[in-house]
Amino acid sequence: MSGAHRRTQASQQAADALVIFGITGDLARKMTFRSLYRLELRGLLEVPVIGVAVDDWTAEQLAARARLSITESGEQLDEEVFARLAQRLRYVSGDFSDPETYNRLVRELGHLHNPTFYLEIPPSLFETVIAGLHTAGLVTGGERVVVEKPFGNDLASARKLAADLHQHIHEDQLYRIDHFLGKMGLQEILYLRFANTTIEPIWNRNYVSSVQITMSETVGVEDRGHFYDPVGALRDVVVNHLLQVVAAVAMEPPAGGDADTLKTAKFSVLRSMADADPARYVRGQYDGYRDIPGVAKGSSTETYAALRLEIDNWRWAGVPFFVRTGKCMPAKQTEVRLVFKHPPKLAFIQTASRLPEPSQIVVKIDPSTGVKMIVDAHRADARGASEIHLDMEFAQEGGEGPTPYEVLLHAAMIGDGTAFTRQDSVEESWRVIQPLLDHPPEVISYACGSWGPPEADKLLNGYGGWRGPWLAPSPAAGEQTE
Ligand code: BG6
Repeated sequence: MSGAHRRTQASQQAADALVIFGITGDLARKMTFRSLYRLELRGLLEVPVIGVAVDDWTAEQLAARARLSITESGEQLDEEVFARLAQRLRYVSGDFSDPETYNRLVRELGHLHNPTFYLEIPPSLFETVIAGLHTAGLVTGGERVVVEKPFGNDLASARKLAADLHQHIHEDQLYRIDHFLGKMGLQEILYLRFANTTIEPIWNRNYVSSVQITMSETVGVEDRGHFYDPVGALRDVVVNHLLQVVAAVAMEPPAGGDADTLKTAKFSVLRSMADADPARYVRGQYDGYRDIPGVAKGSSTETYAALRLEIDNWRWAGVPFFVRTGKCMPAKQTEVRLVFKHPPKLAFIQTASRLPEPSQIVVKIDPSTGVKMIVDAHRADARGASEIHLDMEFAQEGGEGPTPYEVLLHAAMIGDGTAFTRQDSVEESWRVIQPLLDHPPEVISYACGSWGPPEADKLLNGYGGWRGPWLAPSPAAGEQTE
C-alpha cells in the first residue's frame, strides 16, 4: 500500500486511542481532564487515553490527578461517569528524547493502530516527540498529531518550525489547535452570515463603515510571567485567535464543507490583508505588571494591543478592521461589531433630538455566544431617537454548549480538520503582523481595571470611537450603555 494511500485511510478513520504527551502538565490540569470528562459524559469518548510524561507516575496517580482537576474546574463529578473515564486512563513514563519511551508506548498501544497524538508540550519539544513517534513507526500511516500554540514567534521561526515537523509528518496530519475556533464555531458565524438574506447582502464595504473586534480579559498575567513576558499580547492572542476571528468574519462562503476548502477560504482573507502599519498600533502595559514574578525588570512587553488592519479585496477594501485586546480590563468580553455607514440627516423629522446613529451588528463570542442588532428608532412620545437592542443568546435553548477543548479534541479524534489552522494561514498571519514586531511603538502604561491607554481611541478618529459597554454614554449623541 502506498504511503499516501495509507495516510488518507488513517486520516479518515476515527482514532482508536488518544495519546497525550505532557499529561502531567498545567494545560492538562486546567483544561484537558475536564474536557475528557465532559466528552465521557456526552458519550463521545470511546477510546483509551494514554498519558506520556517524564514524571514517574502510575495510572492510579493519573486518575487521582484527573479527579482533582475535574472537581477544581467546578464540574459536578458524577462517580459513574468518572469511573468510566478512569478505566480508560493509562500511563507511560519516560523521557521524550529516549527511544525506549516510544517503544514502551508501542507496547502499551498493543493492537491499537490509529492513535491520535496530542502534544501538550512546549513547541521546542515538538520535533523531538514527532521524530520519536516517526522512528517508532507511529505516525507513518497518517495518524493525526494535535499541537498547541505558539506556532513560532515570528514569520521566520514559524516557517522553521513547520519545516522541522514536515520532515516527519505531512501537513494534513498536523492539527494546530486555536481554541478560539472551538468557541463559537466557524460554521455558526458562517451560517449567520450566509443563511440570512437580511444579513449577507449588507456584509461588505458598500454598507459597513468599520469592523471592531474586542477581546478583553479581567485577569492579569498572574502566575504566567515567565511564559508571557517574552510573548506579549500581539503574539499571545492577536496573531492567532483574533486573526482567525477576522478571517471568519471576512471570508467568502466556502465552496464545500471539507477542511481544505474551508481553510483555503480563510487563507484568502489573510492573503488579502495588507502588512500592518506600526503607526496604527498602540501598545499598553498595566500598572503593576513589572512586579509579577518572571517578568523582566523594566519590561516593555505589551499586555494591551490595539491595531488597525486592512483587507484589500472587493468585499472589504476601505473598511478598517479595528482589533483590540487587553488584560486587567473591566470586563471579560469578546465580540465582533460591524458598524454600518452613517445615515444622512432626516429632513422629515421635525423634532429630532439628534442625528440618526449608524446601525450595528454584534456577534458575541464571550462570555456567551449570540448576536445583537442595534438599530436606531424614534418614539414621538419619549425623548425622540434612541438605539434599540435586539439581543439574542445562542445558548438560551438547548442548554450549555460544549467547551472549546471538548469540541476540538473530539474533532481531532474523528478526523474532522475544519477547525484547525493550516500552515499557509499561520505564515500569512505572521506576515501581516511582522512590521509591528519589527517596529513596536513605545508601550504606554494603563491602570488595571481601565479600558487601556486612551491613545487607542485615536486609531478610530473619523469612525466614531470604540463602541460597546465601555463607551461612556453621551447624552448629546444619544448613546446608550449596553
Ligand atoms: C490563551 C492565551 O491562548 O487564551 C491567554 O494564552 C488568554 O493569555 C486565553 O488568557 C484566553 O482564552 P479564553 O478562552 O479565556 O478567552
